[in-house]
Amino acid sequence: MRCKLHRVFPLLLVTAAFSLPSGRPYHNGDGLHQAAFQVQGFLEWEFPPDPNSTHHLIFNGVNGLLQRWPNTFRRNGHSIVPATIPTGTVLYHGRTDNRVPDVPEWFAFDFEHSYVFGISSCYVISVQAKRPLRLLYFDGSSAATMKDGPMDSQDIIAWGKPRPDKYTSDRERLKVLCDWGRPFGLDGFVRMEFHFEVMICDVADGLEVVTLLDLMPKNVTGPINHPGPRPAPPPVYPPPGWRGSLPGYGRTRFEAYVAGGWHNLAPGETRVQLDYTGLITFYDPTLSSLVEARQGKDRSHHSLEGISAVDTARVHAELQYVLTHEQTSGSSVDWGSIARVVVERYADRLEYLRFLLSPNATFTDATEQAFTARSQLLVMLAPYMTTVDVPQQLPASANVSWLAPVVRRCATTQTSRIPLGMLTPQEVRIHAAVENTLREICRRLALLWVQFFDVEGENKAMAAEVIEVGHRHVDELMSWLDWSLWVRCEPACDLGEICYLPSWPFLKGDDPYDMTPRCIAPEDAVPYYM
Ligand SMILES: *[C@@H]1O[C@H](CO)[C@@H](O)[C@H](O)[C@H]1NC(C)=O
Ligand SMILES: *[C@@H]1O[C@H](CO)[C@@H](O)[C@H](O)[C@H]1NC(C)=O
Ligand SMILES: *[C@@H]1O[C@H](CO)[C@@H](O)[C@H](O)[C@H]1NC(C)=O
Ligand SMILES: *[C@@H]1O[C@H](CO)[C@@H](O)[C@H](O)[C@H]1NC(C)=O
Repeated sequence: MRCKLHRVFPLLLVTAAFSLPSGRPYHNGDGLHQAAFQVQGFLEWEFPPDPNSTHHLIFNGVNGLLQRWPNTFRRNGHSIVPATIPTGTVLYHGRTDNRVPDVPEWFAFDFEHSYVFGISSCYVISVQAKRPLRLLYFDGSSAATMKDGPMDSQDIIAWGKPRPDKYTSDRERLKVLCDWGRPFGLDGFVRMEFHFEVMICDVADGLEVVTLLDLMPKNVTGPINHPGPRPAPPPVYPPPGWRGSLPGYGRTRFEAYVAGGWHNLAPGETRVQLDYTGLITFYDPTLSSLVEARQGKDRSHHSLEGISAVDTARVHAELQYVLTHEQTSGSSVDWGSIARVVVERYADRLEYLRFLLSPNATFTDATEQAFTARSQLLVMLAPYMTTVDVPQQLPASANVSWLAPVVRRCATTQTSRIPLGMLTPQEVRIHAAVENTLREICRRLALLWVQFFDVEGENKAMAAEVIEVGHRHVDELMSWLDWSLWVRCEPACDLGEICYLPSWPFLKGDDPYDMTPRCIAPEDAVPYYM
């Protein structure tokens, strides 16, 4: 008979800060100290990540670049990435007169976004890139002209600090950014609100006009998007010879959201190509003023307010380095794809595992539930589990070092053979983010495996206990990962509707900090200000 002394591995031990003889209660594996981490990394695999660690935040940043959904869900951007718009790309610019702009201007990637500008007269100019355009991309909802953080990263570049006082001075911001970027040969900047946009510093340089069209005016029947007292809608005259209704103003706005939604998830806005070798992140853990500023704040309130002058100078220096050295070094690793592979592998499986371990799942009893969860865990760990990876003694939790090789294989799947020497310092940071994010996923799965390894031989009470511990592990892991893929409209929206997260300029009924998605129809696209 097997010993029945099996204890549930106490959750406290694995989540709370505890000191071990080595004096290293956490894995910090921070950024550029990756090499040291690889050596001692997996023997003490059960150590939780340092609570100040930002690997998962950098990972999410990389995984979400140029996708609307993650950058709407977490509005305050933390990455700045050199980018290119290739030759031949068509962009759109909407305005109320028929002049081709000779000052810095905003361009849309999809017609629908440019058509929202102008009511009684709407001109849309389409232009095409004659050469690759050299740009800088600010992630997050960086075109949301609001005070609480989305514009901080660009303001730190433009003005050397966040300027919430300038939140409406977007034309001034654009001019300052263009002046700053000119010595680096930058043609403009990529940002996002409910859709992506590109701010072009000199339209005559690198772009040619394809069409300049005087399009149908819009029928304003509801409110127009304007803060303060409601202005009278302008009179709209259909052109001579027209019959029937004009395009509706509200519907035009709704369609701009629809077009933004085409770029919700990977591959996102494909007309911009990123240079990961030059990715700057304000989640770099060595920017200590921001580590401090984030204490006690939930992720939607992470911002760059509180960055010190020293850290600002370091970011400026790094960005200058990146913009002057980008062609000469770095790998051709597609970090966006590597991050995506991790998310594809685990997003659905973790969600399903959490469900199987939750009270919501219906099973005849805890034994059956534990059996099902165990088989799901085995699916997830099977690629890393060899025939010798079994405990030398029971209970399996007595000494968990038998799982160290499994955790190591699982955590380094994507990164073990990428030579750090061929990476730029910016890529080394992404490398560490991928490896440490995977490491935490694998650590939690292995801790569950310790619990579930022998659960089929246990009684119902023990199975129920193991299920509860397992559920907490998966729940904590999923909150740590914070993947926006798990934020969905359920049930799915009807045809003609879109799943909507509060995005600037907000709609009626939005709470900018309640990121519960909802289905909206064209008639729900009523501006917040009304
Ligand atoms: C504008 O919309 C209203 C309400 O739908 C409609 O009655 C009217 O005919 C429309 N006018 C034009 C010119 O589209
Ligand atoms: C996390 O950072 C804060 C602010 O710098 C610091 O006070 C705290 O000790 C850090 N926590 C750990 C576990 O290092
Ligand atoms: C269980 O159901 C409740 C109520 O419907 C829901 O809020 C919760 O998210 C569900 N939990 C899981 C893990 O599916
Ligand atoms: C756990 O097992 C490993 C490998 O067998 C051994 O090196 C280590 O000393 C054991 N730890 C304890 C606390 O017994």
